[in-house]
Amino acid sequence: MSILDIFTYPDEFLRHPTQDIDNIDGNLQELIDDMAQTMYLAPGIGLAAIQVGIDKSLLIFDVAPTDEQRDLHVLINPEIVEKDGNVLSENEGCLSVPDFRASVKRAERVLVNAYNREGKPIRMEADGLLAIVLQHEIDHLNGTLFIDHISALKRELYKRRIKKQLRHGGTAD
Ligand code: NI
Repeated sequence: MSILDIFTYPDEFLRHPTQDIDNIDGNLQELIDDMAQTMYLAPGIGLAAIQVGIDKSLLIFDVAPTDEQRDLHVLINPEIVEKDGNVLSENEGCLSVPDFRASVKRAERVLVNAYNREGKPIRMEADGLLAIVLQHEIDHLNGTLFIDHISALKRELYKRRIKKQLRHGGTAD
């Protein structure tokens, strides 16, 4: 297993729409294991393949409390088929948008169809944190970042901060 590099904003690769996966082979299993190791080390609770440079429709997540046993879930070709309600996710963050958190308007409940890593069709009905994580990660598969959902002003302030950091050779000030 290896730790993968996580692409960060403003890398344009994160804007790529992803391709559906039609072959669940050994390479894919290896990618899933590497993604899991990368996510746990970061640490994060969700990671989409596009964030590690693979433009495929694949995401992983683990929303188990950190003091409990790990509970890794893998979704291949996930699709939100129903959503309802409105909720403001508090303090949403992303491994590809470092050092920034914001509240984001999300659906309260989602119904997601996908395949698991064994290629079995699965259906997830989610609310609470899980519903937010699913929407966030499925957004990644469509080239969308959570900062696309916040106010233009907040997004502009974040962009400026990142540009400044890049000018200063990656160091925060
Ligand atoms: Ni993210």
